[in-house]
Amino acid sequence: MAGGYKYFEAIEKHAGLLGILTAIMVSIGGLAEITPLFMRAHEVKAAEGVKPYDALRLAGRDIYVREGCYLCHTQMIRALRAETQRYGHYSTAEESVYDRPHQWGSKRTGPDLARVGGKYSDEWQMVHLRNPRAVAPESNMPDYPWLSQAWVDPDEIAQKMKVLRMLGDPYTDDDIAKAPAAVKGHTEMEALVAYLQGLGIANEPTNPAAQKPAEDGSP
Ligand code: HEC
Repeated sequence: MAGGYKYFEAIEKHAGLLGILTAIMVSIGGLAEITPLFMRAHEVKAAEGVKPYDALRLAGRDIYVREGCYLCHTQMIRALRAETQRYGHYSTAEESVYDRPHQWGSKRTGPDLARVGGKYSDEWQMVHLRNPRAVAPESNMPDYPWLSQAWVDPDEIAQKMKVLRMLGDPYTDDDIAKAPAAVKGHTEMEALVAYLQGLGIANEPTNPAAQKPAEDGSP
């Protein structure tokens, strides 16, 4: 196919043309990889056992976002032996369907929190949040003392749940009607601790693909 070389030669001798054609080829390759992921993101359904947040935990999740905990903590256990041995089963997309926005994070100044629920008592969590150095002397985590003095706003929570229902979270009218009473009288500290204590427990998928890791930690 001597004729074909003529085209190759023409392209290779023109840097501009080579650059443009290379960019087109790389873009096609990129799109072929990325597009299916975007299409499939909508197909991810909650795993069995993964429920939308109850009112108090939902309020706690918003405090977690407000305080920027995700800047130091991931909630994304990778399928690597070192991670599954330390934190438990690797994270799955089906666990995060009710997280808007997801809290996977990308920076681990502190440990991953995806399965921290139940690791410590409520009391420990509160002492730690008020002053991390009280329980972890070397910690560089900030203090969050104001959380014990601020109350969760019962008027806001039903609105939040209605918006989430519009986005597809299966809250019933009854869930929404009971929400203000469920958060009334609770401090932000209690809401945040309720959220933390549910991580990896309330949202633990019960599908067989996401059972506890093997003894040797292999994913
Ligand atoms: C500046 C970074 C930083 C920020 C911001 C931060 N943390 Fe931490 N966190 C750490 C570090 C470092 C540790 C490990 C030492 C310790 O236990 O304090 C930690 C530990 C923890 C632990 C214990 C985890 C375990 O498995 O032992 C929890 C729970 C926690 N943080 C929750 C939070 C919450 C909730 C927020 C937001 C209100 C937050 N952190 C904000 C750095 C941070």
